[in-house]
Amino acid sequence: MTVEKTDQAHWAEVAEEWIAWARAPDHDAFWKYGSAFRDFVGNGKGEALDVGCGEGRVSRLLKELGYHVTAADPVARFVEAAQEMDSAHHYEVAAAAALPFEDESFDIVLAFNVLMDIEDVPAAVKEMRRVLKPSGSLIVSIVHPFADRGHFSGPEPDAPFVVPGSYFRRERFEGAEEKNGLKMHFAGWSQPLQDYMAAFTQAGFAITALKEPAPQDPSRWTRIPLFLWLKARPFPSDR
Ligand SMILES: C[S@@+](CC[C@H](N)C(=O)[O-])C[C@H]1O[C@@H](n2cnc3c(N)ncnc32)[C@H](O)[C@@H]1O
Repeated sequence: MTVEKTDQAHWAEVAEEWIAWARAPDHDAFWKYGSAFRDFVGNGKGEALDVGCGEGRVSRLLKELGYHVTAADPVARFVEAAQEMDSAHHYEVAAAAALPFEDESFDIVLAFNVLMDIEDVPAAVKEMRRVLKPSGSLIVSIVHPFADRGHFSGPEPDAPFVVPGSYFRRERFEGAEEKNGLKMHFAGWSQPLQDYMAAFTQAGFAITALKEPAPQDPSRWTRIPLFLWLKARPFPSDR
């Protein structure tokens, strides 16, 4: 079994769980952070590629912002679900490391909470660089590598955040979350921030913006960042 099939096999198995999870109003963190992410991306008119689109909610946001959107995901069921909701203008069943597009096709390539699910992040980032125009931007959201590696030790608002083991190791994670009658099985890799940064710089990207968003309402995630958002531009000299 290839690396990409491993990523896809998990998500193909849990596709219906994810569609219900992502579409339940106010259910997961996306609903709390969505408007700040909208501001982070900003309005635009160019060609946007949503890598790992899932059921299509980020593609829909890009469309609302004015972009001409291509939604791609290696799981056919997700692409079908995105299409059912008229999430984008164009759809492809494709993994991040093998995008069926010409070089320099997009003004924005966006991967929202996808890179943690991909085993070979450097190969995926390199391919995203290939399809991005030299004047374009890569926009990425990941679960913050620090948050990914620890947990709050109890339910109290001031419960310490505990990081067992080492922050620096790259580790496979698998687990289930249950909330309001919905269950979701997550799986992927947690790795330190420097590993992501190495993938970006080796692919020829320079980071131009980085945000550790905090929710507006009272939450323990105002103490520790749950997500990390960044923008990166291709190095002109690297091509
Ligand atoms: C947590 S979901 C996020 C979906 C969507 N971006 C969102 O925020 O609603 C992770 C997505 O990554 C996709 N994915 C997994 N492996 C991938 C790969 N190798 N290339 C591109 N996408 C992948 C999954 O199919 C799934 O749709």
